[in-house]
Amino acid sequence: MESPDFIITYDGFGVSELFFCPGEVDLARWFCPGGGPGSVFVTDQSVAALPALGSFCGRFGGTVRRGVGIAGNDLLVVLPPGEAHKTIDSVTAILRAALEHDLPRRTRFCGIGGGVVCDMTAFAASVYKRGGGALELVPTTLLAMADAAVGGKAGCDLGPYKNMVGSFYPARRIRFFPAFLRTLPEAEYRSGLAEILKTALLFDSALFEDFKHRRASLLHPAEGDFEGTILPIVQRCVEAKARVVERDLRETGERMLLNYGHTFAHALETVAGLGTVPHGDAVAWGMARAVTLSARLGLCTDSYCGEVCALLTDYGWETGPVPAGRHGFTAEALLGAMKKDKKNSDAGTVRVILQRSLCDTVIREVADDDIRGVLK
Ligand code: GLY
Repeated sequence: MESPDFIITYDGFGVSELFFCPGEVDLARWFCPGGGPGSVFVTDQSVAALPALGSFCGRFGGTVRRGVGIAGNDLLVVLPPGEAHKTIDSVTAILRAALEHDLPRRTRFCGIGGGVVCDMTAFAASVYKRGGGALELVPTTLLAMADAAVGGKAGCDLGPYKNMVGSFYPARRIRFFPAFLRTLPEAEYRSGLAEILKTALLFDSALFEDFKHRRASLLHPAEGDFEGTILPIVQRCVEAKARVVERDLRETGERMLLNYGHTFAHALETVAGLGTVPHGDAVAWGMARAVTLSARLGLCTDSYCGEVCALLTDYGWETGPVPAGRHGFTAEALLGAMKKDKKNSDAGTVRVILQRSLCDTVIREVADDDIRGVLK
């Protein structure tokens, strides 16, 4: 087995170890299913169908298309894919499988997938028999590698509202296999790139320059670029996020900055219908609205706002007041959804993450009329 060539640690509730694993993915060798005291592996149908998971899934009694496979004391729970299934029912399916197979409180839960799988597996681990199980994650999408898997956010959606139920439960170990990135559909890759741009805007001016000058290789990496170019960028994002999470795991202050663009994004995802707009595309649009609001409030210059919006447009993301081509959205519907945001302190006001300039970010309560002003 190839050893990881780069390790980051951060301290949430105890130390999280992040391993970056070059070369081919061989989960069967990393996790030895069937050989341990009992683990619950969770994935979705799309990930389970990847050739890289063939021998791993094969250990659970043939190809597990959906449902629960068994290998010794270990379980493989295969969920339907996508944001539409990030529900309490999917979390219950994980918990029920563990309980029906008499797995103890300290069971290891291991999520293998994108942000949806990672968040729900973490949530199940945090509540199974009141929590205490070890959590390990293998993020398989760019978005999950650069953002979702790191930092202990665990949960699921509730009705049309995103991530409204959950807890903080950092993984003990996260393994990053850049080989998964080669398998990503272009739309999913682009979605992850938006969270990376968010990190650049918040913390990394050199990475922002890369976005300006290396558009072709970032948008369409060649085969070898996933390990050579994209993985080091993921490592920079993870390192930046890990340092914030160490200082503010439970998002009482500084961590809120990581939600740049997300207040608008979550509203769009809700109003459009969860799973309709890829999360990263919604975040990109949300960052355009946030920087436009920053300029409207006199926090940043028009020139900075123009620079960010031009870059987002150059990468193909929508930046206008209401995303082009989508009908039936009103500023009022979006504003109503924004009022459900978890960052808000009181019902009735909206707390938004704004920028004064590159890498200079602030949190502000904003009047409804100013938000309306950038939504229509
Ligand atoms: N995605 C923002 C955070 O993890 O805090």
